[in-house]
Amino acid sequence: MSTVLVTGIAELVTNDANLGDGSPLGIVADAALVLEAGRVAWVGPATQAPDADIRHDLAGRAVIPGFVDSHSHLVFAGDRAREFEARMTGTPYDGGGIATTVAATRAASDELLLARTRALVAEMRAQGTTTIEVKSGYGLTVADEARSLRVAGEVTGETTFLGAHVVPAGADRADYLALVTGPMLAACAPHARWVDVFCEPASKHAFDGDEARRVLTAGIAAGLLPRVHGNQLSAGPGVRLAVELSAASVDHCTYLTESDVEALVGAAPQPDRSGTVATLLPGVEFSTRSPYPDARALLDAGVVLALATDCNPGTCFTSSMPLVVALAVREMGMSPAEAVWAATAGGALALRRNDVGHLGVGARADLAVLEAPTYRHLAYRPGMPIARALDL
Ligand code: NIG
Ligand code: FE
Repeated sequence: MSTVLVTGIAELVTNDANLGDGSPLGIVADAALVLEAGRVAWVGPATQAPDADIRHDLAGRAVIPGFVDSHSHLVFAGDRAREFEARMTGTPYDGGGIATTVAATRAASDELLLARTRALVAEMRAQGTTTIEVKSGYGLTVADEARSLRVAGEVTGETTFLGAHVVPAGADRADYLALVTGPMLAACAPHARWVDVFCEPASKHAFDGDEARRVLTAGIAAGLLPRVHGNQLSAGPGVRLAVELSAASVDHCTYLTESDVEALVGAAPQPDRSGTVATLLPGVEFSTRSPYPDARALLDAGVVLALATDCNPGTCFTSSMPLVVALAVREMGMSPAEAVWAATAGGALALRRNDVGHLGVGARADLAVLEAPTYRHLAYRPGMPIARALDL
């Protein structure tokens, strides 16, 4: 197996506080990396770099760990541009449009679903994302949910069963919950790592706290790990339920009470990666014209944050982590360093992974190269295609 020496790194973000400048980003200036068998074998100042079989010169660019997009809904067909347009002219989002995507997804062939999913993954990689989580949730029958997870499994190991996305049109709520926690879970669990639920009492389409608890406990009993869509449209039980069940992450967190924040502070991840992070999805607030969560207040209180796209056809049809970083900085009060950390190391915590989200020795060789001298350009140059995953 040949070794690759990557040189010409003006600024390397390692997310390893033991490396470099001692900050959480672990920045090494004028750095080099040695990669071997898909892993980081050496990292440090270029002047001390060992020799390697192959050299790859980045000519003064910055390098960060590949983005970890810990929340996406990539397996779908159809288009909801008109719903977006209506929202921009005053119609509020309530989850009702999900039914449109469910109908289009059920009608699509396996080939089309896989091709569209792969195209979105390619978009993500072209913008620096190297790890993704992908949910089901637009099938909502036993066969269509299992199919969505098989498609998701073609592009990632981080697959999430979201049969409890909404109660499908025409279904009885109690019957559907019995299906999700029974035969649908049984068919989907072999294809999933995670179980998720849209816990949102303010939406008549989604699930309340008791229903969400049933879905998650059934998923846990089937061997899945819990995560939650919570507090997106109103303050509700999602955050407290996620903390109580030791979910890796509770996502959205747009409307939080003081007790939600306290619960998240108390659940901050531990060195063994247990605990619950709050994953913020500012592309959703952008695309639904909703108030942004106050990331500054959450960080100051001691909540650990991740950032993700939530790429989906309804509330946020972007796959761009650089856009998410820019929004987090401009609209939610995060510093560029905090946002880059949350989009990489934070995402890794949200997936309970320690092999991604950093570039210490032993990490996966997942590098995002920036057409820029520093990570700060991710927020400083919004909308510019400056990040890409490094293909060696
Ligand atoms: O994360 N909140 C629920 N699910 C998605 C939106 C799905 C849709 O509208 O198609 C979300 O925002
Ligand atoms: Fe989502």
